[in-house]
Amino acid sequence: MDVAFINSRTKTMEPYFHLKGSFKTSADATPARADIEKFIEGAKATILQKGVPAGRGSRIIGWDIKDNNISFDIESDRYLRAHDAFIRLRKPLAAVLGKGHKIGIRGAEVEEFIVKLPSEQALRQTKIPHVKSIEFSDGMLTLSLDVGEAELENKVPDRIISLIEDKIAAQGFGGKAEHWSLLWESPKKEFPVLKYGVKDPTVEAEKQGWIKRGASRGQWIHGAQMTHIFRTFEQIVLEEVIKPLGYIEMIFPKLDTWDVLKHSGHAKGVYPEIYYVSPPKTRDPAFWEEVIDYYKVTLEVPLDLIAEKIDKPTGILCYAQCPSFWPFLQGKTIADDSLPIKVFDRSGTSHRYESGGLHGMERVDEFHRIELVFIGTQEQVLTHSKEMQECYKHIFNDILDLEWRMAWVTPWFMAQEGLTGLAGQKEVGTIDFEAPLPYRGKDGEWLEFQNLSVNGDKYPKGFNVKSQSGKEVWSGCSGIGLERWASVFLAQKGLEPADWPEKFREKIGEMPKGIRFM
Ligand code: SER
Ligand code: ZN
Repeated sequence: MDVAFINSRTKTMEPYFHLKGSFKTSADATPARADIEKFIEGAKATILQKGVPAGRGSRIIGWDIKDNNISFDIESDRYLRAHDAFIRLRKPLAAVLGKGHKIGIRGAEVEEFIVKLPSEQALRQTKIPHVKSIEFSDGMLTLSLDVGEAELENKVPDRIISLIEDKIAAQGFGGKAEHWSLLWESPKKEFPVLKYGVKDPTVEAEKQGWIKRGASRGQWIHGAQMTHIFRTFEQIVLEEVIKPLGYIEMIFPKLDTWDVLKHSGHAKGVYPEIYYVSPPKTRDPAFWEEVIDYYKVTLEVPLDLIAEKIDKPTGILCYAQCPSFWPFLQGKTIADDSLPIKVFDRSGTSHRYESGGLHGMERVDEFHRIELVFIGTQEQVLTHSKEMQECYKHIFNDILDLEWRMAWVTPWFMAQEGLTGLAGQKEVGTIDFEAPLPYRGKDGEWLEFQNLSVNGDKYPKGFNVKSQSGKEVWSGCSGIGLERWASVFLAQKGLEPADWPEKFREKIGEMPKGIRFM
């Protein structure tokens, strides 16, 4: 039977599904055999052909009745997949049994479910829930699924199949890079910093006491000078973006629960990059006395003991900044006079577990970001994104005088779910703002220092948000990374205020003096 997956016309390999399953009946169904047979013959041309190209879909290759069991042997191509056919049969079969014979269907069982998917190579990951085995031979992956009635109803097989198809596609790309295409670029600039020799601003700022490495991984203590630069950037964003575009300030939570991450999509892929947050199992001091005493006696923090006394993580430290805002709108219908919504947050840090090695201020585990979120109709969101791009152009061209560019890239929400490529709709996506770091060499790294995205209906859908007019709700967001702005600005302009652009000097005023050490 397993030859069905070669399409006779195109000779290409096709997916193949083979399910053996049965319906449990409330009484012996043998007396209903003639009616069941009639039903099955009819179903082949009706129920199983609905929405399926002629000659394709599912075929019932065998069936039987044994006591309280009606079993089916079904194979299919990708059109009406065997498990979908099996589910389709249930209701109308129950009607036949109920009407003529007063027999009910009490449940379903899957004895065997084999799925074959074309693939050029074996799968790297073979531990997938509800999959008993995965084998590879002759351009086909053969999966044996371990599913029952509940999994069929919850569409688990469909999700296993899309997961495997995604994995096959991803392996095929061979880790292909994110999408990137240039949208706009500034003229080339002279970099004042070059007259001092090529300088890494992190190294320089450290030398001058503007910053110091924090005790934690990828963390900095920002001294008065760097803090003043950050606050000046923030002031520029307030004056040039937030006020003119009519944003209101809110405070977004900085601990994101799994529930938020499920709705935002992050639960699909962000695990290697997040900081997990675990609460104590109880705040009863007696429960913790052991830990306290251990420390007092040994001056060592007993990590293994602590591990036993904390709960599983309830969530993560703020990662993408906007997701934790969405529960404010969740399940609501927004009044038309509130649209477009424009809110921003600058109330705390974001955290990412960055790749190993020692990085400068441009790649940190703990960072400071202003996040702007805009929500409206599709038209409002697209118009707003254009207006915001103009504000940013003014800042980077006229105030900070940077060499920089804008590129159209894989939407951040897709990247954060572990996907590459572009979103389905062409208006949906992320603009990365990038700038060259002269100390990395002439053709060295361009650093992404902020982004601006139209996220389509992703978040309104994910958090079930509607509009009064009934028009589809879209959203977008923009994350302004202060460490990134500083890395780019100082890499191009240096740490000497005299070399900074006039307009920026007006805004920053006098640089504060830091702490002097003996
Ligand atoms: N939420 C977006 C991101 O994480 C913008 O900050 O990239
Ligand atoms: Zn965002």
